[in-house]
Amino acid sequence: MRLSVIGCGYLGAVHAAAMASIGHEVVGIDVDERKIAALSKGEAPFFEPGLQEILTEGIASGNLRFTTDMAQARGAAVHFVGVGTPQQKDGYAADLTYVNAAVDALVPFLAEGDIVAGKSTVPVGTAAALTEKVAPTGATLVWNPEFLREGWAVQDTIDPDRLVAGVPEGAAGERAADILREVYHPSVAKNTPFIVTDLATAELVKVAANAFLATKISFINAMAEIAEVTGADVTTLADAIGHDARIGRRFLGAGIGFGGGCLPKDIRAFSARAEELGRGESIAFLREVDAINLRRRDRAVELVVNALDGQVFERKIAVLGAAFKPHSDDIRDSPALDVAVRLKGLGANVVVTDPEAIDNARRVHPQLTYVADRDEALKDADAVIVVTEWDEYRRELDPTHAASLVAQRVIVDGRNCLDAAAWRAAGFTYTGMGRP
Ligand code: UDX
Repeated sequence: MRLSVIGCGYLGAVHAAAMASIGHEVVGIDVDERKIAALSKGEAPFFEPGLQEILTEGIASGNLRFTTDMAQARGAAVHFVGVGTPQQKDGYAADLTYVNAAVDALVPFLAEGDIVAGKSTVPVGTAAALTEKVAPTGATLVWNPEFLREGWAVQDTIDPDRLVAGVPEGAAGERAADILREVYHPSVAKNTPFIVTDLATAELVKVAANAFLATKISFINAMAEIAEVTGADVTTLADAIGHDARIGRRFLGAGIGFGGGCLPKDIRAFSARAEELGRGESIAFLREVDAINLRRRDRAVELVVNALDGQVFERKIAVLGAAFKPHSDDIRDSPALDVAVRLKGLGANVVVTDPEAIDNARRVHPQLTYVADRDEALKDADAVIVVTEWDEYRRELDPTHAASLVAQRVIVDGRNCLDAAAWRAAGFTYTGMGRP
């Protein structure tokens, strides 16, 4: 099938390459010439496991191409819209400038019967508004939210755990759902749940899923706060409650909290939208979820300061991690970097290392010192804090080796990812988040 993908950022680039890899003929379109030039050469514009391979294959097979020319969307059966919906500069609401601009630019090239499938995360009600723009062309607007996780984006796109299609009522909607079933034929063939619903429900599924995940993380972080004053261990608590299948252990990792390009902005945009709808009270708890999350960053800084008896000025602090999570070079709203910046603000000599995210981090926070080599970061450090649970720190960093490098054996485990006993055995003062 011929497909166009408008927006070649995180979501769009992966979607375009993944759709080509399952046999479709795909054109990816973006206004950013540099991004398109890189993608056209088969270069992934960001680090994402597996993306490079499917980009190269797609381009070599002729199934995949990239352009800045929107006219190239003409003739595609489905036009996916996967542009960004960032947080507004002066508030919590989602900025819909890019979605509106993308659809406006696409409209002149739409034909009767085309499907325009929104994938971006949007405030509920956006699809109804976009339907007005698309309707005069005879195309059908549907909402097909994307649930991919960074670091697993290729796998999540090719083999998602569910597919959701929000379609308008009537024959056009039914036809659109059938076309999406054809697009996602490998998933349909293996009976992946395919939920057909109305536009508003489809938009809400995405924000509700992210709000739930954020709530789970802040719930366990709230328990970490209680554990901290009672001597309880939040990781054992999470294991114990997680055995209850109704609760589940995943997303109960306490630590410095969630970041990234999705969860923080999505819960804020959801709150803003609920208020517009006169239902702010219904999800007022999400404000608390956000507040708990941000407090964990303060707490991590406090733990480092306490471990150094309040003496952080000009002390060397090795910050292990910059990405908002492992297997990603994404530093958007990264709690790891936020902690590093705060420590720097206290006058510490902060040295940050990360296997993938240093270049991105340096662009946004040039005031910090970056080293690619983990051991160089550890050398002569007065304290070490792990803020992204990369395997390089979690599994591969031997505490005895670390002990031979640092000036003082102080480690704060901002992700509760280290073996506390092993670090203590190597002579470190180990402090976790919500652990005795
Ligand atoms: C999220 C959703 O998982 C995905 O379904 C949606 O499409 C986009 O938003 P992503 O932002 O890639 O995906 O990251 P995710 O794996 O959800 O992690 C988000 C943040 O939560 C990270 O900073 C991570 O470190 C943190 N986290 C995750 C915790 O602090 N504890 C946990 O137990 C799990």
